[in-house]
Amino acid sequence: MSTAPVMKAEALQRHYEVSGGLLRKPNILKAVGGVDFALYPGKTLAVVGESGCGKSTLARLVTMIEEPTSGSLTLDGKPVVSSDWASLRKSVQIVFQDPYGSLNPRQRIGQILQEPLIINRPDISKAEREAKAREILSLVGLRPEHYDRYPHMFSGGQRQRVAIARALMLDPKVLVLDEPVSALDLSIQSSVLNLLVDLQEKMQLAYLFISHDLSVVRHVADEVIVMYLGRAVERGSKDDLFEAPKHPYTNALLSATPQADPANKKRQIKLKGELPSPLAVPEGCPFAPRCWKTQDRCRAERPELGVTSHTAACFFPENADA
Ligand SMILES: Nc1ncnc2c1ncn2[C@@H]1O[C@H](COP(=O)(O)OP(=O)(O)O)[C@@H](O)[C@H]1O
Ligand SMILES: [Mg+2]
Repeated sequence: MSTAPVMKAEALQRHYEVSGGLLRKPNILKAVGGVDFALYPGKTLAVVGESGCGKSTLARLVTMIEEPTSGSLTLDGKPVVSSDWASLRKSVQIVFQDPYGSLNPRQRIGQILQEPLIINRPDISKAEREAKAREILSLVGLRPEHYDRYPHMFSGGQRQRVAIARALMLDPKVLVLDEPVSALDLSIQSSVLNLLVDLQEKMQLAYLFISHDLSVVRHVADEVIVMYLGRAVERGSKDDLFEAPKHPYTNALLSATPQADPANKKRQIKLKGELPSPLAVPEGCPFAPRCWKTQDRCRAERPELGVTSHTAACFFPENADA
């Protein structure tokens, strides 16, 4: 890719101290244990992985809701530091899974949409604000009469359109979408995904698209990162990753999501055991206890992600020649 990334993350980590009970030392939970990526205008980086693997924590770091424990973020080539958050936040907006929870039920849609401008852009007049809110409302496929309605008067899909509209009010460069269609009926999901694809093309937005659902990711991603216990275990273009996954974990996820690839007639891979607690990440390869290819080396040494465009943190990858 020739254009410069709008956002870059290097070795991003976020740890939490969790109490170990009355007499025990606090434990350190590494919710995000070192993730690197770049976001480009008009492109979508998808982050997939099971519940608890650190996706929402990553979203909070990228949107400057929380500070990383270590590692760095840059926006347009400038380091993101907490003293500049207030001005930088406008450029990075987020849409959550549950649109109802994030919309004030007592405000009309017009007011909800104007709120970010009232807070961040005192230079913009009331008339301009209202005009912008109406413009964005139509951009997300809602009708002019929706402007005066309350959130409860909308369907789930429409509420998510409102949440997307609100995220666009400050003309962000990056949109973080944390499971944006996971709470919606299957029939509504694709219309919201299509809207996101259209908006990206029109506004050249960079998306960080978070989902546990590979069939959704297949619909929108350019590049994909697969996370396991707070770490990226595979990174690649959507086509490489879906057609020739390298990490056994990615392969297992794909085999469990037949609708992610209708042509894929692979047998479903049954993983051994349960997802380990993030408080007890296994030594060596974190996936080793559940993997069918594990050898001594996997338990002794931690495989790292490489630097090539398609890479997996695995000593014995699948599709090794691909
Ligand atoms: N504020 C917090 N304090 C302690 N642990 C947390 C906190 N936020 C998240 N975690 C833990 O971090 C891990 C990753 O959580 P999360 O980022 O929400 O994962 P995901 O979005 O992939 O389901 C989980 O084990 C979760 O319990
Ligand atoms: Mg989450």
